[in-house]
Amino acid sequence: MKITFGELALPKTGAVVVGVLEEGKLTPTAAALDRSSGGALKRAIAASRFSGKKDELLAVLAPANLAVSRIILAGLGKPAAVTAAQLQSLGGQLLAHLNAAGETAATVMLDKVEGGVDPGEAAANLAYGARLRSYRFDRYRTKEKPESKPTLARLAVLSANSAGVKRLYEKLDKIADGVFFTRDLVSEPANILYPATLAAQAKTLAALGVQVEVLDEKKMKKLGMGSLLGVGQGSARPSRLVVMQWKGNPKAKDAPLAIIGKGVTFDTGGISIKPAAGMEDMKWDMAGAGVVVGLVKALAGRKAKVNVVGLVGVVENMPSGTAQRPGDIVTSMSGQTIEVLNTDAEGRLVLADVLWYCQDRFKPRFMIDLATLTGAIIIALGHEHAGLFSNNDELAERLTAAGKAVGEALWRMPLGDAYDRQLDSDAADVKNIGGGRDAGSITAAQFLQRFVNKTPWAHLDIAGTAWSKKDAPTVPKGATAFGVRLLERFIAEHYEA
Ligand code: BES
Ligand code: MN
Ligand code: ZN
Repeated sequence: MKITFGELALPKTGAVVVGVLEEGKLTPTAAALDRSSGGALKRAIAASRFSGKKDELLAVLAPANLAVSRIILAGLGKPAAVTAAQLQSLGGQLLAHLNAAGETAATVMLDKVEGGVDPGEAAANLAYGARLRSYRFDRYRTKEKPESKPTLARLAVLSANSAGVKRLYEKLDKIADGVFFTRDLVSEPANILYPATLAAQAKTLAALGVQVEVLDEKKMKKLGMGSLLGVGQGSARPSRLVVMQWKGNPKAKDAPLAIIGKGVTFDTGGISIKPAAGMEDMKWDMAGAGVVVGLVKALAGRKAKVNVVGLVGVVENMPSGTAQRPGDIVTSMSGQTIEVLNTDAEGRLVLADVLWYCQDRFKPRFMIDLATLTGAIIIALGHEHAGLFSNNDELAERLTAAGKAVGEALWRMPLGDAYDRQLDSDAADVKNIGGGRDAGSITAAQFLQRFVNKTPWAHLDIAGTAWSKKDAPTVPKGATAFGVRLLERFIAEHYEA
């Protein structure tokens, strides 16, 4: 789909989209179209439930006296309350509507609305929402019927005062590139995307000026990463640790920001094997890693003036003759020994070594990890919030606010000694599961915290938000890339020069 911008001018063909305010008040362009169609728009509004509330759409087909295929009325609601996020949603909903209708070209006309967002900003955000919704993972569908494929090839977003729109959109477009990269990585099946191929995908970021290093098992063994390596030892596909450095602010003397991802390319559970039903979902157990790679792509793509290091521990958790057994004791890079009582609690074992390595090597300003870590976070929060755990209130507050702003909500969960004690082991320094199923996402976070020293740290448990079974305005069902937009915003807001 090609997206263009320009000054307001009525198109001759295709669909035309105009805004309507609450109580059916037509925007100036809508009013002009109503007159040239002999009052068709006002009659359509009167004959329907459409009243101009936000998120309402009403299509008027083949209007008399006009060559356009349809006029779509888009409800904007109260003019003073129109936000950038709302316009992104509108863009996404319009895209889905136009594709469902079989439209090939559409023009959106954005008038200056009293008190609302600037028309140029509105245009860029609407286009961004449409692009985000346009994502499809259709690489392996060789026989899809033409009538089920998306049709919209051209989207023009016209506004009064279109100067500066392109520059604004270029930045948003780079963020969307990062989101799409994450969605691709997360959607790929585990026979295609495994540690070596995920690392190869991360390497492609070198083209944007990112320094990418890939550590193989030999190097990790030398570093003492017995915890991460133990998880991968049952797989025929060797583990990797990928380090991506984006130095967008070379003059800065501060330590870099560190973002870390769990990259379990497939989680069978290992010897503590999972039930067969639904196991296919575990292809996306590398979503945390996917988010880190996509975030670095977004930041490098828009040349963010910030120094960020992204680290992903990538392993496949398989049962086999070489697999780790329940009861095995491994030594982590931190020196702490871990009793592995459940081989399905593997994400924390991977992150333990990556967190430690990150702290040791980069002395970062803070560390944020993302992981599809526990089923328990889905029991607690469903699919509406990701779990946030942190040893630092400022970090937690900034992350929560960024999430709210981009529609990727976080909910802070507690940490505390009483939970931590459940991880004490009789045989080693720590065990990898708590006593029972109670507070499973908290004991998992406590385990991670045992590998964090004084560094400010936040952990996002994205098990409930990384994948969606239903379409949302800017997120088609499937891999959501939850976390990319949140962290991009968080960094832009607080840490960019
Ligand atoms: N990858 C899973 C968590 C998960 C579950 C992610 C559902 C996405 C959807 C993780 O490795 C896991 O298996 N966790 C166990 C931990 C338990 C053994 C302590 C869980 O949540 O059951
Ligand atoms: Mn598991
Ligand atoms: Zn897992």
